[in-house]
Amino acid sequence: MSDPSLAPLPDNLLPEAADDLLTRGYNRRDLARIATVFGVGALAATAGRPAWASGGVPDPAPTAKTRIGANECWTGPLAPGQRAAAGMIAQSNRYSPHDERGDFIRAVMAVEGVPYDHVAPWPGSSDPLSRAVISFCSPAKGLVTADPTFELAGRTAEWVGAPVARVPLTPDFRHDVKAMLAANRDAGLYYICTPNNPTGTITPLEDIAWLVQNKPAGAKVLVDEAYTHFAGVPVASSFATKYPDVIVMRTFSKIFGMAGMRMGYIMANPETIKTMMRYDGGMQSGALPLPSLACATASLTAASLIAARRAQMEAARGFTLDHLKRKGLTVVPTQANMLMIDWKTKAAKDVQAAFRTQSVEIGRSWPIWPTVSRITVGSMADMQDFVLALDKVWSA
Ligand SMILES: Cc1ncc(COP(=O)(O)O)c(C=O)c1O
Repeated sequence: MSDPSLAPLPDNLLPEAADDLLTRGYNRRDLARIATVFGVGALAATAGRPAWASGGVPDPAPTAKTRIGANECWTGPLAPGQRAAAGMIAQSNRYSPHDERGDFIRAVMAVEGVPYDHVAPWPGSSDPLSRAVISFCSPAKGLVTADPTFELAGRTAEWVGAPVARVPLTPDFRHDVKAMLAANRDAGLYYICTPNNPTGTITPLEDIAWLVQNKPAGAKVLVDEAYTHFAGVPVASSFATKYPDVIVMRTFSKIFGMAGMRMGYIMANPETIKTMMRYDGGMQSGALPLPSLACATASLTAASLIAARRAQMEAARGFTLDHLKRKGLTVVPTQANMLMIDWKTKAAKDVQAAFRTQSVEIGRSWPIWPTVSRITVGSMADMQDFVLALDKVWSA
């Protein structure tokens, strides 16, 4: 047997974690085994660096009075979800009092029209997003993603050494599916975010279907519909049954106001789901907190409440857009709960700092557009605070 002190260090442990374990008497071979205990969840946390964790530990929440920087919902879970979650707390002595995971999957089936074996819940969507990259990309099979878009897939691919192609959006802010295929004709995964974070723009289902029909055999297409309820556009759920290589992903962190409850799901071919679960023996998908499951189940079917929340967002967005137009500011034509504002002559990070002096936390910029900030549409009161602050900090 080879010398354990010469074994390579596992890449999915942060150097400080590896140092700590070695100092405490573990050898390098043990480290590889320890790294797999935390599996993909740990990988997402270190490679993906979610918005709330920039340095391996969660950042403190911003202290601003008005928080419109992180694409969260301005209010908590829908009332039926809150009631269901509260009711579940008293029964949480059992791992599964009445098959709550099954109840959740049946709610997804009812709303999305997909079969039971095509649904897998997860604690949010960051985990399945990172996990899809691990499952289907490799040093030989890269990731193709858009620019700008949500970066977690790209960061995870870089972390594990899979090549990443970042393809600019079309001039009308869709994913450029033809250019995405041309960027890597042998990729493992093509990531489509629609509505796109940060632009709020839609990539039509026809474009996604084109990519699915023209991609290399075996490659997956992941359609991230985190913000779809804010847009009210046709969704890709049926692609999960029609095409074996499509993964459709959702989260409860956005319109459902459950970011801190951690719930999401994918719809995909059962073989795809099985592949994605093999890294942790189904642990992350199987062991979800009961109040979160119950809240998600009751929320998903509350169609009229979802529509009412979308209408509230549209009113707050319309109010904000009218004001921005009067100020002569250019905004990407969004269909979701976010606005990309081009400050043209000013760096977005300086504008963000100026808003902080008014106790308004706006969003960040993306390297491809350094003068453009993402603003989350909050409540009407949030957006009134935003325009008041804007009038103080901005002049053309
Ligand atoms: C497009 C997109 N996908 C996925 C996520 C991950 O969110 P969560 O892990 O809370 O579901 C986010 C979070 O902002 C997002 O914007």
